Amino acid sequence: MIILGIDIGGSGIKGAPVDVECGALTVPYHRIPTPQPSAPTPVADVVAQIVRHFEWTGPAGSTFPAIMKNGVAYSAANVDKGWIGTDAAALLQKQSGCPFVVVNDGDAAGIAEMQYGAGRGQRGVVMMLTIGTGIGSALFVDGQLVPNTELGHLEVRGKEAEHRASDRVRAKKKLGWKEWAARFDEVLHCYDALFSPNLFIIGGGVSKKHAKFLPFLTLRTPVVPAQMLNEAGIIGAALAASQLSA
Ligand code: BGC
Repeated sequence: MIILGIDIGGSGIKGAPVDVECGALTVPYHRIPTPQPSAPTPVADVVAQIVRHFEWTGPAGSTFPAIMKNGVAYSAANVDKGWIGTDAAALLQKQSGCPFVVVNDGDAAGIAEMQYGAGRGQRGVVMMLTIGTGIGSALFVDGQLVPNTELGHLEVRGKEAEHRASDRVRAKKKLGWKEWAARFDEVLHCYDALFSPNLFIIGGGVSKKHAKFLPFLTLRTPVVPAQMLNEAGIIGAALAASQLSA
């Protein structure tokens, strides 16, 4: 089955048709910069442009960087506050004409990694973290997702984890990898103490630079880089749509 996957991020919105049986894009993705401010209607218009680009009329899935329940956004940490309370699934459907399932971006990336990437076949507790503008999280128990864990907002020594160790903080404070790794290590120790995962999977922008920071981490729990890099959101969104609309 082919489903259109869309990944809505703080700087870009990208999408492509995904073959959900093999977890791969059928053609290269199309990307359009995220409108600023990232209010609901302009963002939905960009999603509709991507839908038209692929002349898509079938089912579609999208990520969104917020708490998502039944297609409705319940938070907006790094996007326009107008999203809070918006039925994103209904809005995307209205603007594009396609039925949409919308899930949290960290959860989507985790779903893709668990099915086709670093988490394939992993039982027990697996914690996927996406490190970008914020910190996204996806928690799996024997392959089953516990959605909307939002661990980027967990306080570590009185400050939200994503305000200590996101990739945005690394760039803004011009931190070297070793310095940033020390911050990330502290966050991971905190998650490790609370959830005792069997495995951490690190995705998002920093995952392709894993050789620069993984050696500085001091956890006993294994930490591995994500394998799907910047297509994880698109693929995970399509997988979520195939599962939730099945
Ligand atoms: C948001 C999450 C999102 C994460 C990564 C956080 O600020 O609250 O919903 O998954 O950023 O984009």
